[in-house]
Amino acid sequence: MPGRLITIEGIDGAGKSTLAVALHDALRREGAPVLLLREPGGVALSERLRAVVKDPALRVDAAAEALIYAAARAQLVVERLRPALDAGEWVLLDRFVDSSLAYQGAGRGLGIATVRAVNDLATGGLEPDRTLLLRIDPTTGRARQGVRGESADRLEQEPDAFFATIAHAYDELAAAEPDRFRVLDASRGPHEVLQAALGALADLPRT
Ligand SMILES: Nc1ncnc2c1ncn2[C@@H]1O[C@H](COP(=O)(O)OP(=O)(O)OP(=O)(O)O)[C@@H](O)[C@H]1O
Ligand SMILES: [Mg+2]
Repeated sequence: MPGRLITIEGIDGAGKSTLAVALHDALRREGAPVLLLREPGGVALSERLRAVVKDPALRVDAAAEALIYAAARAQLVVERLRPALDAGEWVLLDRFVDSSLAYQGAGRGLGIATVRAVNDLATGGLEPDRTLLLRIDPTTGRARQGVRGESADRLEQEPDAFFATIAHAYDELAAAEPDRFRVLDASRGPHEVLQAALGALADLPRT
């Protein structure tokens, strides 16, 4: 039985990483082997590309940005994701292709179809079994990020309109694939969001 790929999506500060950790704990308590990974990252090449793509000191053109994310994703899929899924593990992934569709396709204006084509090469057609979209208004997301107290990376320095465009794109992606997506109200507290996420995975066969 192949494993399950569950991706977590949403704009910056929506609470993806917070939910990923809580969900990882909760699923492990159910006894399933679960791997928690983040994008870009998860393997050595992709972590290096993460540092590059987030560096505020670098000029990175939109096409270059899309290709760097896709390159990081390609290596993660081959080196870590495919083997884990083939071994029957569940993988919780903090961002995946939908992030590129929303950020580079819509936010940077490259077009969803173009970015999707690049990512088809990167993933070899691997698709999530379920995608949890954490929905929050961009102002609240930004306020949460401020609380986190880290300095803004290259993408986080973009204006509010950029994140509004991305939030809208995520909504459209979710509406287009209602079987894969579950949209969660991320304005609620961490406990409520976790419970909603568990409910949104309840129909996925556990064995
Ligand atoms: N449901 C929640 N209610 C209130 N605060 C939250 C909630 N979830 C996360 N936070 C807080 O909001 C901040 C951002 O959360 P987190 O880092 O999980 O977001 P993220 O979506 O992973 O952001 P990024 O896209 O920048 O990685 C953190 O300080 C976190 O503690
Ligand atoms: Mg995060």
